[in-house]
Amino acid sequence: MTYLAKPPFVRLARGIVLAALSVSAATLAWSHGDVVPQSVDTTTLPQLGKKWLDANPYSKGEGHKEALRIGTSAYNQNCARCHGLEAISGGMSPDLRKLDADCTGLADEAKKDMCFAEMSEFFAGTVRRGRVRDGRVYMPPFENILTQEAVWAIKTYLETRREP
Ligand code: HEC
Repeated sequence: MTYLAKPPFVRLARGIVLAALSVSAATLAWSHGDVVPQSVDTTTLPQLGKKWLDANPYSKGEGHKEALRIGTSAYNQNCARCHGLEAISGGMSPDLRKLDADCTGLADEAKKDMCFAEMSEFFAGTVRRGRVRDGRVYMPPFENILTQEAVWAIKTYLETRREP
């Protein structure tokens, strides 16, 4: 496990605590569980390089099974405290089972794939940058904490939890 990103995150965490005082959702989200994001060992996955891909390379085929294993544990360590165990949201944070809900019902396969790709890009962007509005951290950024492989592994896990 590496803690390269710890010092900046500690500063960030302090910001979150301040923000939490005025955001009840965030207060609840951070009042239980570990506040330090966990880096994830992704060396057993097909490596993706530095450039971020547009879509989840582990959705099927090589690496899918291992991505699901790693993604399940990475989700539990980094996301579940806000987005809920097994991705079932308690209502404080968006329910990530519904992330692809606009796509799953599309009949046209080409349109469906395009829709999934758009959601993937949105997903990776959100996880990397987090959600900060008006100086309040609703969700911390995971860039430099999670590798690209870890982010797509989490997406792979969430794809098995999809609900329309
Ligand atoms: C501190 C709590 C917290 C943690 C930890 C957290 N999130 Fe979030 N997340 C939120 C909140 C709150 C929002 C909605 C923010 C807003 O209103 O803009 C959100 C939004 C999102 C969205 C956008 C959903 C949408 O429908 O707009 C995605 C995707 C997401 N989170 C994924 C993740 C993943 C994956 C992880 C773990 C790597 C994670 N989050 C960790 C609180 C958190």
